[in-house]
Amino acid sequence: MLISKIMIPRLYKRHKILLYMVLVTLSVVLSFGNYWMKAPVQASLEDEAFRLTSQSSFNPRAVFHELTSYIIAFNDGDSNEISNSRIGTKSGSIFFHWDDWVDTFPANRLLEDVKLQSPEGKCDSALEKFASVNAYWLESYHTKVRRGMAHLYCSQQPPKRILLATDFSFVEVPVDSKRRLGLSDMPSNISKSQVVKDIQDIQMLDRQRFNTIPYKNLRDRANVDVQDFYFDPQLEIIRLKQQQRTESLDSSQEDYLKFLSYANKLVDNTDQYFKYPWITSDLIVGYSHHFAFPFFKRYYGNRERQSVLQHLVRAWFQFAESAGVASWINYGSLLGWAYNGVNMPWDTDIDIQMPITHLSKLGREFNRTLITENPRYGNARYYLEVSPTYLRQGNSKNFIDARFIEINSGLYIDISALSHTNFKPPKNLYDGLTEEEKERAIPINCKNWNWHITDEILPLRHSYFEGGDVYIPNNVSRLLSRKYGESSYTTKLQFKKFNYQTDIDVWVPDSICSKPPRTETRYKDENKDELTLNGACGSEELKDEYRIIRECAQRRHNLEPELDYPKEYDINSTGALPYFRKDPWDYHNDINKGVALNSSWYTRDEVYYL
Ligand SMILES: *[C@@H]1O[C@H](CO)[C@@H](O)[C@H](O)[C@H]1NC(C)=O
Ligand SMILES: *[C@@H]1O[C@H](CO)[C@@H](O)[C@H](O)[C@H]1NC(C)=O
Ligand SMILES: *[C@@H]1O[C@H](CO)[C@@H](O)[C@H](O)[C@H]1NC(C)=O
Ligand SMILES: *[C@@H]1O[C@H](CO)[C@@H](O)[C@H](O)[C@H]1NC(C)=O
Ligand SMILES: *[C@@H]1O[C@H](CO)[C@@H](O)[C@H](O)[C@H]1NC(C)=O
Repeated sequence: MLISKIMIPRLYKRHKILLYMVLVTLSVVLSFGNYWMKAPVQASLEDEAFRLTSQSSFNPRAVFHELTSYIIAFNDGDSNEISNSRIGTKSGSIFFHWDDWVDTFPANRLLEDVKLQSPEGKCDSALEKFASVNAYWLESYHTKVRRGMAHLYCSQQPPKRILLATDFSFVEVPVDSKRRLGLSDMPSNISKSQVVKDIQDIQMLDRQRFNTIPYKNLRDRANVDVQDFYFDPQLEIIRLKQQQRTESLDSSQEDYLKFLSYANKLVDNTDQYFKYPWITSDLIVGYSHHFAFPFFKRYYGNRERQSVLQHLVRAWFQFAESAGVASWINYGSLLGWAYNGVNMPWDTDIDIQMPITHLSKLGREFNRTLITENPRYGNARYYLEVSPTYLRQGNSKNFIDARFIEINSGLYIDISALSHTNFKPPKNLYDGLTEEEKERAIPINCKNWNWHITDEILPLRHSYFEGGDVYIPNNVSRLLSRKYGESSYTTKLQFKKFNYQTDIDVWVPDSICSKPPRTETRYKDENKDELTLNGACGSEELKDEYRIIRECAQRRHNLEPELDYPKEYDINSTGALPYFRKDPWDYHNDINKGVALNSSWYTRDEVYYL
């Protein structure tokens, strides 16, 4: 939302022809009217999702079950089972191939031959060549998708480790090497109850031979110090070298020193690290820029995307707190929070920030980690990658410092580090501050030149967003007013063809109704738990959205009647709200298989506390 992702692709000298193509495309665009410029129609995105999901036999639970069976066997020391396991080695690590974890069906035809030649997942040189084209190469949607899938299959490094989310900890399983199991070749009927039982079985074992990271609950205030915003790579390097001379470095310090020396040079002359696909038909709208390459395989409609994002942001905060790093939501996500405690329906991502030293820790300890969602809530898998360019501003080509990517959709959280730098802050950063506050103010900024003072951010406090625990900045009203204009979050009720209906606290698409309906009977009951069909402007979708958002909005208004002054509440006893948006794979699978009889996204998966 905040960061405009529309950027001209880097034009290499040898790509002059590309520039030519862009110009030709532009003139075609301009002369053929607005066909190219229209955002995709929601209904057709939904139809396309059903068409594609019904063609695929991929079951995300197949590989999960394989993994949990191995963990159980290994913890039990059951040597028979261990040697029977296809995914696990004898020494507590696993084989990994993206093809077992991601549905690559749009490239089935393309991958057919190599799969036959090498069931364990090797590529031939022709496919490798096809896969190695830069994501910014402008080409058609279908070619780009196949290119991404081929890249994933042949070129994308496997993760270093998998963190498997159970009910009270992450179980850490190292990845040994790349090898395909071929699970996508066989239809699988592993059910939700099976995989939930799998994690319960893991939890019940007395002996855990894998490293575990216990969950931590978020607290009233996050533990962040002003110093956490100060990071000097040169100083880090000198400190490590000094230690190397006097004592010695352990292997992780050695690696860190090597990394710092490498990245500190790289950052001045490098390309953009995180790639999104460039697609001819999407050049103007830039819809595909909200998906990470190579994971992108289709466009998502608003409702499906909102489901991915709800699960994504909740998984992120659980992971981050347990990993010992602090972060908070900002910008578009924070603006959404201010209205009704959820992301805005048109917003395509979640904006997360953290102090630079916390990001550095994340890079050292968790770069290239794949995190599985607790199967009670869904089938998502999140890949965390930290850019080597986070160290400092460098050549300004990179302002996203890390990404938390849902691998089946390619939707992601952009994570940016804030630091105190020598750059000069804009004057208006100090607007409205007293002389004393100005004296005290410590400016911090991200690499995309968004500025804050530490008092605006700290202390970070707990709140609920999308129903789950998050941290938010201390002075939300100052932050949002500076960013979006005075009181943007209370008076602006029209946005992007949505209108905010204050009585139900929902952003309603104008296509459903542009104002609340004139009816006495907006609600089905006194508790206002549900809308009547008339009360929902005749729209089942709006009825559904109301059920999804209602409790999140209620909680936001009950706990923070004034934005910056929360009521006292006990986080432990208040507890997170249920997951209200159904997992997207389940949603499509249930309807495709005739298990669900309507297209309702609403669910109520209570958070499981031990
Ligand atoms: C899954 O399929 C196998 C055969 O492919 C069958 O034996 C098993 O009963 C099925 N399980 C369920 C839960 O349907
Ligand atoms: C994370 O891993 C990628 C891929 O190996 C690497 O390019 C990058 O430098 C790593 N980032 C950090 C912070 O170590
Ligand atoms: C937010 O900032 C404004 C302007 O400096 C100040 O008046 C207000 O007290 C601050 N609120 C909080 C909660 O710090
Ligand atoms: C909340 O629970 C945590 C453990 O999960 C505990 O450390 C903390 O003291 C509890 N806080 C309150 C206020 O009960
Ligand atoms: C949709 O179907 C589910 C069962 O599949 C049911 O629980 C729910 O009430 C239905 N919703 C609507 C709006 O009809």
